[in-house]
Amino acid sequence: MKLIVANFKMNLLIKDIHNYLEVIEQKLNKDQVIFCPNNLHIKYFSEKNYLVGSQDISFQEYGAITGDTSINQLKEVGITYTIIGHSERRQYFLDNKYINKKVKLALSKQIKIILCIGENLKVFEENNTFSVLKDQLDNALKDNLNYINETNLIIAYEPIWSIGTGKIPTNSCLEKTILNIKTYLKETYNLNLKVLYGGSVNLDNIDSLQEVSEIDGYLVGSLSLDPNKFLTLINKINN
Ligand code: 13P
Repeated sequence: MKLIVANFKMNLLIKDIHNYLEVIEQKLNKDQVIFCPNNLHIKYFSEKNYLVGSQDISFQEYGAITGDTSINQLKEVGITYTIIGHSERRQYFLDNKYINKKVKLALSKQIKIILCIGENLKVFEENNTFSVLKDQLDNALKDNLNYINETNLIIAYEPIWSIGTGKIPTNSCLEKTILNIKTYLKETYNLNLKVLYGGSVNLDNIDSLQEVSEIDGYLVGSLSLDPNKFLTLINKINN
C-alpha cells in the first residue's frame, strides 16, 4: 500500500475544512493517508481519527519563541507525524540550521518524521543532485541514528523545481535518484526507509509516476486542497 501525505500548506479556512471532511467521510483508508493542514485545523482531522501531521515544529520544546508552535502543543491537538525540512521552510526560514535539532526533538517525543529533501534547478541541471541530497540526509541524521528506525522516519524527495510548477523529473531519473537515496541510507546508515515523491503530483501524471517502482508513496500539495480531486488521485494510486 502506498502512503499518501496531503500538505495543505497555508491554505483553506475552517469552513473549507468542514466541507472537506464531509466530502471524504468514509471514502478513504485511514491508515494510508496523512493530512498536514494548518496548525489551526489539525484538531478537526484528529477528532475524526485521521492520521495528522504538522507542516513543521519549533526547534525548541517551549519558551520564548514568539509565533512558533511547539511539538507538545501539536501533540496535544493530535499529531502523530510532522514534516521537517520542507523546501519552503528552508527557503523562507532558517530551517537548514535547525533540521538536525528538529529531528532529534521529534524522535524524543515519538512523533514520526517526514523528512523533505530536494535540489534546486541549477543543481539538477549541473548533475549535482545526489551530492546535495546526501548532505541534506547527513545533516538531518547525524547524532540521531540511535533513535531512528524504519517506522519513525520517512523520506520525501521533492525537487524544488517541481513544486508548484507542473514539471516533474522523468521516470528514469526518479527511479535512479530514489534508488540512490535508498542505497545510500542502507550502506551508510543501515536503514531501509520508505521514500515518497513530491512535486506537482496531479491527475495527469499519476499513472506515469505509478510506473516508477522505487516510489513508496506521494507528498501532495495543491491537488490535495480539493477533496474530490484528492479522492480521485487516491483511487488511481490504489488501482
Ligand atoms: P505541489 O504538489 O503543489 O507541487 O506541492 C508539493 C509540495 O511541496 C508538497 O509538500
